[in-house]
Amino acid sequence: MFGGIRSLRSAPFRIFDLVNKDKIRLKEMKNIFGSFLLIIAGASGFINAQSRITNKFNMGWKFFLGDAPSAASEAFNDAAWRSLDLPHDWSIELPFDKDSPTGNGGGALRGGIGWYRKTFMLPVPAKDKFVAITFDGVYRNSEVWINGHYLGKRPYGYSSFQYDLSLYIKYGNRKNIIAVRVDNSQQPNSRWYSGSGIYRNVWLTMTDKLHIDYNGTHITTPEVSIKSAKIDLTIAVHDVLTVIRKNDNVKTVIVKTIIYDQYGKLTAEKTSPNVAVSPFPGQDTTLVKQRFIISNPLLWSVDSPNLYKAITQIILNGKVIDEYTTPFGIRSFEFDINKGFILNNKPVKILGVCNHHDLGCLGTAINKAALRRQLQKLKDMGCNGIRTSHNPPAPELLDLCEEMGFVVMDEAFDMWKKEKTKYDYHLDWDEWHKRDLEDQVVRDRNHPSVFIWSIGNEVSEQWDKKDSSGSIIAKELAGIIRSLDTTRPVTSACNSPYPDNPLIISGALDLIGYNYQHNNFPSFHERFPGKKFIGTETVSALQTRGHYDLPSDSIRRWPARWDKPLENGNPDTTCSAYDNCSAPWGSTHEETWKVLKKYDFLSGMYIWTGFDYIGEPTPYPWPARSSYFGIIDLAGFPKDVYYMYQSEWTNKTVLHLFPHWNWKQGQVVDMWAYYNNADEAELFINGKSQGIKKKTGDDLHVMWRVKYEAGDVTVVSRKNGKIVLTRKIKTAGSPAKIVLSADRKNIKADGTDLCFITATIMDANGNTVPDANNLIDFKINGEGFIAGTDNGSETDLTSFKSSRRKAFNGLCLAIVQSKQKAGTIGLTASADGLQTASVLISVK
Ligand code: GAL
Repeated sequence: MFGGIRSLRSAPFRIFDLVNKDKIRLKEMKNIFGSFLLIIAGASGFINAQSRITNKFNMGWKFFLGDAPSAASEAFNDAAWRSLDLPHDWSIELPFDKDSPTGNGGGALRGGIGWYRKTFMLPVPAKDKFVAITFDGVYRNSEVWINGHYLGKRPYGYSSFQYDLSLYIKYGNRKNIIAVRVDNSQQPNSRWYSGSGIYRNVWLTMTDKLHIDYNGTHITTPEVSIKSAKIDLTIAVHDVLTVIRKNDNVKTVIVKTIIYDQYGKLTAEKTSPNVAVSPFPGQDTTLVKQRFIISNPLLWSVDSPNLYKAITQIILNGKVIDEYTTPFGIRSFEFDINKGFILNNKPVKILGVCNHHDLGCLGTAINKAALRRQLQKLKDMGCNGIRTSHNPPAPELLDLCEEMGFVVMDEAFDMWKKEKTKYDYHLDWDEWHKRDLEDQVVRDRNHPSVFIWSIGNEVSEQWDKKDSSGSIIAKELAGIIRSLDTTRPVTSACNSPYPDNPLIISGALDLIGYNYQHNNFPSFHERFPGKKFIGTETVSALQTRGHYDLPSDSIRRWPARWDKPLENGNPDTTCSAYDNCSAPWGSTHEETWKVLKKYDFLSGMYIWTGFDYIGEPTPYPWPARSSYFGIIDLAGFPKDVYYMYQSEWTNKTVLHLFPHWNWKQGQVVDMWAYYNNADEAELFINGKSQGIKKKTGDDLHVMWRVKYEAGDVTVVSRKNGKIVLTRKIKTAGSPAKIVLSADRKNIKADGTDLCFITATIMDANGNTVPDANNLIDFKINGEGFIAGTDNGSETDLTSFKSSRRKAFNGLCLAIVQSKQKAGTIGLTASADGLQTASVLISVK
């Protein structure tokens, strides 16, 4: 999108000749920074001595599942360990296990202890550099060593952190060993599937000892209009040598920033000359402030997510010694007591969803292509908001949210000092919460997609009316955030949204965050005069894709009470996809949306959830192992209600008819249609009209109660008497063939890119067989591998890594991942008695 260097994380490395005498042979470089040094070597044979190098450090790790106490030492021999590339989630590779201590709340997948080691070399010229390793997230209790030296630990599995390696690194032909111990053995420690291991990206940074700090810029846009924007940038220039140099060698540098718009156009520029970097002994960081005015700025919005980038250079004696990119966006916003959320002076309802961090059958191992697919499906539904429930997200999620236009609620914790599960973060609270929250805010505050900070979800402290700890902690956390960022409101997701909630009493919250309670929305101002609303979490409807319980107009609250087990559920552990089933604390999708859409002051909501996730399979016990809450199932196949939102939230013309047309002869069936941009809809069975229906009042769908007869059912939507859309469903015969469709025909040969291939079971005439569950065998050849398979069933106990899986209600998914080699990938799907299908993908 941008010209020049795209972003800090994906910056191509500028190569220049360092010192001819220190030529580094390609062979020596091979293990240094993985593939990227090959790029460097390929380009020039020299390492850039002046500028910053940051690249992924994911390739070529060794892994052992179990404890290996001596593995921290350099001498340890890891030859027998498994070789793998990060990001990696070991739990997703394990079998589902009824007795897993994570419980089925945790997806019935075990945790445990795991070790990772990586051996690498750094060339001699790197000796004068600052070298650091950054972990975007390790679940959980990570401890890291370099060459046997202990660098530290981070208990919280969702924090990003960096260690300075410079003091312990060896150069030239000598090997360095990074060892990481991950301890996710104490279970349960989460209410959902957490994954285990180094599940996010790892980076190696090499720059001058005088450089811009890790997350060392802070950008704000204090004044924004369509005519002009004021941009304030603070740059933390860090000099590692200060301590050694004392005050006899103060350096003066030039700090120069150039701002580019997303088309690569130079938009503003500022130079701060004579910046004294180490003015006082012991002071190793100097803050440099720069202000810019941009005329006619391209504002960031959910529909036009325009981005800018500020490239800051540190120049010493005429040479650029560090270069740091800060992507940012320009937008103004406020939450108004009466008008709700206002973005760039226009009211915008936040139409958001909550998501956990797993990527279905890929587990929690972060993958940008998988995240992008999730977000694209949500965007196509009209969704414009994401809540990172209930923890700091992978940085890539925020990158994508600002690229694609989502309003993010960035959440810190699911619990504070009081436990939710026996071994969760409450055990680390006292020692770590301040550090973890600070790190989150400093990491995320430049992201234009972040609009709201949430200090916690349904924390237990909110229920203790007599105990002041809830109030005290809320104030402390809000204070920590405000000391680092004053531009965004602070909220907490409260399931006690009443004025006697100590979190609310504390006065620390800028937005009153409601979880559920949609019937109380209209009286919000009576309860909270003068306050601002956000629906932090809503709905919690329960649905299994493709399963329908009749009659459709009677609503099930499953279970009857939150603390009771479900009685009289479905023997096959399904929930109805008619939008007539919800958790008792929640509502159907329609119930909440009908209220929210009516009042301007209701600024928006985050629905529980956009996608199904692993774990928390309310309302069922084992063998259920993943959630029923998603608008989209775990495999990424939309449930019907997806089209209700699409008809309400987008301008696309929608007509969606469901359910299928395979019932018992004469059975009474409810046919629903979601439609928009039309006045009426008419249903026909085998050509015979079943009547015209119109949405009136609050209606969000129309329904016909009909008698099934084999053949076809057709719905037509009309506006002013003219047909807008037609949808026909035919009675399907028995399964005859598999049809494969790939979401992309070209993927990148980068070892991480993905192609999502849907297998649909059809009859001989090409109708989807709605209850087909044939066992499909996927076979792959060429430059790719099967990263996972899924079908969206909440109870399928086949390993997510298996290449054989049953279809569920007609559909199955195979995810194919590229290797690092260009070529082609062939995927074949076969099943007993069905016509085989193949698809070819090219890898470039
Ligand atoms: C909420 C909670 C979520 C999830 C949801 C399920 O109360 O905040 O984490 O558990 O219930 O309905």
